[in-house]
Amino acid sequence: MQHLVDTNNFSDEQIAQLLHDAKTFKAQRPPKLLRDKLLITLFFEASTRTRSSFEVAAKRLGAAVVHLDPSRSSTKKGESLEDTFANLCAMEPDGVIIRHSENETPRLLADMEMTSVINAGAGNYAHPTQALLDLFTMVEHFGEVKGKTIAIVGDIVSSRVASSGIRLLTRMGMNVVLVAPKPFMPESDLPQYEKLEDIIDKVDVIMSLRAQLERHASPLFDDYDEYAKHYCIDKERLGDRDILVLHPGPVMRNIDISDKMLEDPRCKVLEQVKNGVFIRMAILKLLLLDS
Ligand code: NCD
Repeated sequence: MQHLVDTNNFSDEQIAQLLHDAKTFKAQRPPKLLRDKLLITLFFEASTRTRSSFEVAAKRLGAAVVHLDPSRSSTKKGESLEDTFANLCAMEPDGVIIRHSENETPRLLADMEMTSVINAGAGNYAHPTQALLDLFTMVEHFGEVKGKTIAIVGDIVSSRVASSGIRLLTRMGMNVVLVAPKPFMPESDLPQYEKLEDIIDKVDVIMSLRAQLERHASPLFDDYDEYAKHYCIDKERLGDRDILVLHPGPVMRNIDISDKMLEDPRCKVLEQVKNGVFIRMAILKLLLLDS
């Protein structure tokens, strides 16, 4: 039984297979490879893209999906997460897709070895399917990402997208640099910059991130307009540079990325969402069929 807690669960060969399958699925809608499979989604945190993307991916491959809303489940009556999970597993799903505020939750449930556990975002620790869809989007654009430089810009310290992205993209041979004001900068061996201007001429990709206000114990900035003056990705800041702009969503318009920039062909935010379905199809195939 294989799990996806973070991308290090996948070998280099498996990652190459995922990229290949996602490309094939994008080129031509595949047959219902997962017709007999059943997935349960269990989201303890809000989600627009990730949950619907998993559901679309599963259904495109013919799998059935059952969604449990934890705010209306017996966790509200005091049932432990492990017991809720064990009860769901008693119904014999082929996988459980989980999002949770605790970093350790997907690992803990995976270690119970009851069904394949797929991490759809855990605390600020990991969001492996986002990292893989970002990789797919860059591979699609560049062909080869090795040696390319990506600047991750924004609330890096609170971001599971950044955590998973840093681990996967450095493994793929990309140069990752971090751009953030001090309160948003994690401890890291990677090159760090407070100003995007100091590195912008050397980057091939900018990954903009939302300020994760829900993870801040107390507000880190009084004024996000002031923050935006330095970190919002807009046309003036980018000029005519050939830089790919990514963002996992939700985009805070004119704080993370400007309205105009969102319409610029260099900005791949909706392409990322589109690609998310294909990479999740590939992930479900790998976990439920191939391993
Ligand atoms: C992110 C998340 O929830 O980790 N969104 C996503 O899954 N695409 C990022 C965010 O909430 O800012």
